[in-house]
Order: sequence, then C-alpha cells, then structure tokens
Amino acid sequence: MRKRRFSEGLFDIEPIIKELNISCGQTILDAGCGNGYMSQIFSKLVGSQGKVYALDTEKPFIDDLKKETKNTNIIPLVADITKKTELEDSSIDLVYLSTVFHIFSKGQIAGFENEIRRVCKKNAVIAILNIEKEDTPFGPPVEMRSSPEELIQKLSFSSDRLIEVDKHFYLQLFNNI
Ligand SMILES: C[S@@+](CC[C@H](N)C(=O)[O-])C[C@H]1O[C@@H](n2cnc3c(N)ncnc32)[C@H](O)[C@@H]1O
Repeated sequence: MRKRRFSEGLFDIEPIIKELNISCGQTILDAGCGNGYMSQIFSKLVGSQGKVYALDTEKPFIDDLKKETKNTNIIPLVADITKKTELEDSSIDLVYLSTVFHIFSKGQIAGFENEIRRVCKKNAVIAILNIEKEDTPFGPPVEMRSSPEELIQKLSFSSDRLIEVDKHFYLQLFNNI
C-alpha cells in the first residue's frame, strides 16, 4: 500500500507526461523519488533501451522500490542529490524533481545545481514540479514554497516553459545549456 505523503494521486499526470516529451532510450533521473510512482511510469516510456534512476535519501523508500522493480530498467539509489552522487558525468536526459525543491536550503540549492550540471547531458531538461505558493489544503508552510518567478531566480539553469498542473501545482521546465 502506497503512503499518502507522496504526490501520487494529487494531480493529473497526463499533461506532465505530454510536456516532458519522453522518448525510448532516454535516461531519466527521478530525484527525491519518494515511493517512485513516477519512476515506474517513466520506466515504461523509455523502454528497455532506456533507464530510470530513482534516487532518494530515505533508505526505506529505496529498499521498497528495489523489491518492486526487480529486473526492470529502474535503478533505485540511496543518495543526496545536493551532493556528489555515483551517477556518471553527462549521462542524464531528463531530471524530474517533484515536490522536493521547497526542502532545500540555499546551500543545498547550490549543491543541487552543481550535481545536476555534472550529471546532465547538454540540453537535458530539468523539470521541477512544485505546489503553488498559496494556501492549499495540504503541503509545506507557504513560506517554504517558491513561486515560479522565485524558482527561476533561485536557479541558474535556462528557464523554458511554465505549465499549470491542476489546481495547486505548477511544472517549470529548464534546459541545461
Ligand atoms: C514530498 S516527498 C516527494 C516524493 C516524490 N517526488 C513525489 O512527488 O511523490 C520529498 C522527497 O524528497 C526526498 N529528499 C529530500 N531531500 C533530498 C535530497 N537532498 N536528495 C534526495 N532526495 C531528497 C525525501 O526523502 C522525500 O522522499
């Protein structure tokens, strides 16, 4: 049984999948994957030629995911994405970071940027999904959240499109130019 603290079921993922334009053979990093529900969707989209790194600092989540995803193209990893990981240089086509960014301190944002720049291929897409900076029936305190404008200011990646996701979320796309 999946735990409710993850974003699973809180929004329609179809428009997100459409915007991410994932193709067979890609390598995707689901950073702060939680229960890995998106990793499992990405896994099908990239097919057997592709792979998905499902990374989280919480070992119990990764242990559960390892059991669920045996013999698939998902590679569950216990790691901190704000520090150097075991991922190879220039190996990732798409980074997906869903409802994680608000947790990062200023120092962690800098660490996240460094690591993402190292592991991403040139022109890789960095997709950040956040809860809107408004009162919502769920989510972290509003002061921890970033509006799309604040998110763009806090990161030095090249900003691309902003997509509204259902009522309370947004997806901001960046490029690693
Ligand atoms: C609110 S949950 C979101 C999980 C999942 N992305 C989702 O949308 O359901 C935040 C996740 O980020 C993970 N996390 C927090 N800081 C992290 C870091 N520095 N590196 C990797 N994962 C981190 C937490 O352990 C937790 O699983």
